[in-house]
Amino acid sequence: MCEHPVYDAILARRSIRIFLETPVAHDKIERLLKAAMAAPSACNLQPWAFIVVDDPQVLARVKETTEHGQYNAPLAIVVCGVTQHIPWEGDGWMQDCGAAAQNMMLAGTELGLASVCIGGFDEDALREALEIPGDVQSLCIIEFGCPAYARPPMTWYTEEAVHWQKFDPSKSRTMRTLQMLQDDAAAGIL
Ligand SMILES: Cc1cc2nc3c(=O)[nH]c(=O)nc-3n(C[C@H](O)[C@H](O)[C@H](O)COP(=O)(O)O)c2cc1C
Repeated sequence: MCEHPVYDAILARRSIRIFLETPVAHDKIERLLKAAMAAPSACNLQPWAFIVVDDPQVLARVKETTEHGQYNAPLAIVVCGVTQHIPWEGDGWMQDCGAAAQNMMLAGTELGLASVCIGGFDEDALREALEIPGDVQSLCIIEFGCPAYARPPMTWYTEEAVHWQKFDPSKSRTMRTLQMLQDDAAAGIL
């Protein structure tokens, strides 16, 4: 028996970019959505909506809106912010929706579903493709499916990112750059 299932799922969730053709069963999609809607939200306003896309034609249109998201996942869930009822200014809804997105990806891991979060997309094109109203914003597209390959569990833990009691400027952490991601991709690390 798994003694630390949540912690294990957190480390096991890795972005996967090649999927099997197997569709995602509706009971699993429902579990993903229940996990999403169990996320914390400021004042419990739950400023989210989730657009589930598993129709191949619609899915293709969603993927076309992305810069780096044209993977073969059989399912995409678009995490949207519904913000007009929030009585304060700002982008705080993104924190709530981000927590919901992560909950879905972790629940997916437990269900044997791999995922990749896509943040770069043409919001207007996505709005048009999915008939998203003007007062609803899109945060990310999460692609889900059965993984076609495995990645080992890991954390990027580094003590250099940890500051005790106050920010310690002597911690000179080498930040990751876009070039490092591109080098990983060139080396076939998906
Ligand atoms: C907000 C956000 C946007 C992302 N956008 C993309 C994307 O457009 N395309 C992609 O392939 N991966 C995307 N990713 C996945 C990251 O590249 C990935 O999480 C990161 O490289 C760490 O790898 P891991 O998820 O396997 O731990 C995104 C992740 C986040 C959180």
